[in-house]
Amino acid sequence: MQDQDHRWLRWPTEPARRRIAFGADYNPEQWPPHVWDDDVRAMRAAGLNIVSLGIFSWARIQPGADVWDFTWLDEVMDLLHANSIAVDLATGTASPPHWLTTKHPEILPVDHEGRTVWPGARQHWRPTSPVFREHALRLVRAMAERYGRHPALVAWHVSNEFGCHNAYDYSDAAAAAFRDWLRARYRSTAALNRAWTTAVWSQRYSDWAEILPPRWTGAGSQPNPAQRLDFLRFSSDALREHLRAERDLLRELTPEVPVTTNFMVAASVRAVDYARWAGEVDFVANDHYVVPGPQGLDELSFSANLTGNLAGGRPWFLMEHSTSAVSWQPINVAKRPGELARDSLTHVAHGADAVCFFQWRQSAGGAEKYHSAMVPHAGTDTAVFRAVCELGATLRDLARVAGAHRTPARAAILFDWESWWAAEQDPRPSDRVRYRQEALDWYTAFLDLGIRADVTPLDADWERYDLVVAPLLHMVPGGLAARLTVYAIAGGHVVTTYCSGIVDEHDHVWLGGYPGALCDLLGIRIEEFAPLLDDERAELDNGTTGTVWSDRIDLTDPATEVLARYRTGEQAGRPAVTRRPTGSGSAAYVSTRLGAGGVAAILDELAGRAGVTSELPPELRGAVELAVRGPHRFLINRTDRPVDVSAVAGAATILGPRAVIVVR
Ligand code: GAL
Repeated sequence: MQDQDHRWLRWPTEPARRRIAFGADYNPEQWPPHVWDDDVRAMRAAGLNIVSLGIFSWARIQPGADVWDFTWLDEVMDLLHANSIAVDLATGTASPPHWLTTKHPEILPVDHEGRTVWPGARQHWRPTSPVFREHALRLVRAMAERYGRHPALVAWHVSNEFGCHNAYDYSDAAAAAFRDWLRARYRSTAALNRAWTTAVWSQRYSDWAEILPPRWTGAGSQPNPAQRLDFLRFSSDALREHLRAERDLLRELTPEVPVTTNFMVAASVRAVDYARWAGEVDFVANDHYVVPGPQGLDELSFSANLTGNLAGGRPWFLMEHSTSAVSWQPINVAKRPGELARDSLTHVAHGADAVCFFQWRQSAGGAEKYHSAMVPHAGTDTAVFRAVCELGATLRDLARVAGAHRTPARAAILFDWESWWAAEQDPRPSDRVRYRQEALDWYTAFLDLGIRADVTPLDADWERYDLVVAPLLHMVPGGLAARLTVYAIAGGHVVTTYCSGIVDEHDHVWLGGYPGALCDLLGIRIEEFAPLLDDERAELDNGTTGTVWSDRIDLTDPATEVLARYRTGEQAGRPAVTRRPTGSGSAAYVSTRLGAGGVAAILDELAGRAGVTSELPPELRGAVELAVRGPHRFLINRTDRPVDVSAVAGAATILGPRAVIVVR
């Protein structure tokens, strides 16, 4: 029998972290009880030590308003515990049962065109519905009272992936909550009128009751951008209120059990401002799914890196990823040999002390029947299950890593959800601008140069870095330009790009020319935007090529250097990349989209001048990603060929294609 003391998994309260958690979402309610015995046997064979349970079990646990059925869950909890598998128990509130939505259709969200989001999929609840809140908290209380002292329980998993399907609700309940949120923010309609520039198009409000969420205003219309921006902020906050409500009840009933919820720091998800959520949970948990394509691994690393920094460098919990294909992309590509382990270990390299999958056993029916799992349709005699077992053994061997914090790099990419929202909402000079892709291109450039960089939220303590890159820093709230300036004068090196510095926190343009709030720091001024058409290219004299954007830059400080000029196009002969020395630091501006390759050419010079260099020997730069957790250095093979890493490993070592090793 394995160790049945699961307390080591209660991270926040248990300092002696000796293992990496390994597990899955477990949905036993999809299977007859005799399968459960096979499940735990195979879980033990694979080395699982934790599962997330009950995520979508509300209808099974509470089949009617006053009907409860815990017997099956009692049995599963006991079975898991008897087999030394701990439980991250969901509160079960992610998806309301039909009896509830039939009785209370007023909990169903409404989209911006006024269409009801009907039951039939999942997560069909309004974050602001008092009726939903009441029923959800009743379930939370019942779960906490029943299982709060169960020996298998190590953490509470509140709801699931907040905002995955219900991020934006335009219902009357949402309208009322939005007004309350605005009243707290602006205090008077006069202040709101100023913030929203309602003098445009006769949009002045004279009473709070007149305010609505940004509902459908007709094809081709351009709704008020400040109103939309506030609605995005409100929507993230409204979901957070629900998290807080469940969490607070859990803390009251079971104060010793840590509470988390699974974030979605991933390519396509932007509804939740996780920088404002990270402090709400006892430990950060994330779900991540690989985007197919050439930057897939870099995107994984980027997301893991950002998650680790949201967690303040402390270990975090990878709650879900996939063993192979997902089932919700247009074409669902299976992972190649080695990718299951490489993807998992890349998360560990960036601070994950738990590696879990969606899901344990592949569903035989239902919406996710084609989604991979640890036990695929073909059973345990499969390459996937063998890879799962190997990973279990690898993670057991990596127990020494557990508990180690991320070691900060010397460079960072600053990530800001509000700039993401503001840069990509109408009206905009070009709808081709992509915030997260630009940030990812800079990250890929760092990886290609072999320079370690953190991806860190904008409101973090980034002054400790020698070089900070803030791509597409579209929104610069009052105070931020001064903070960047002080940082640069004190020796920091700032890099930013096109479309930065343009608006303040109310989406008001900083007047006097672009890049607005950053003109003085950068020592440049731009009178008009000059986005590029899809078939336009702007070549630079350093051999790189710009797309999407260009700028007609005037230098306003004689000290501003030109690092590259446009060679072709409308701006030919004019500056394309600039750098202004200031104090003992500098501030650089890249005025076009260069893509990862072009960025690398510029970054090489900018990093070099900031004194930030690769920690890898030249022959490994680009081929290998280095991530560091205290004394543990992870080497991740970014290529499909073997790489000789002897120079770093200290002994003759060939890193196989897509392989990862940990050296001290
Ligand atoms: C997540 C979700 C899981 C499962 C998974 C499939 O969004 O939390 O329940 O649906 O995606 O990739």
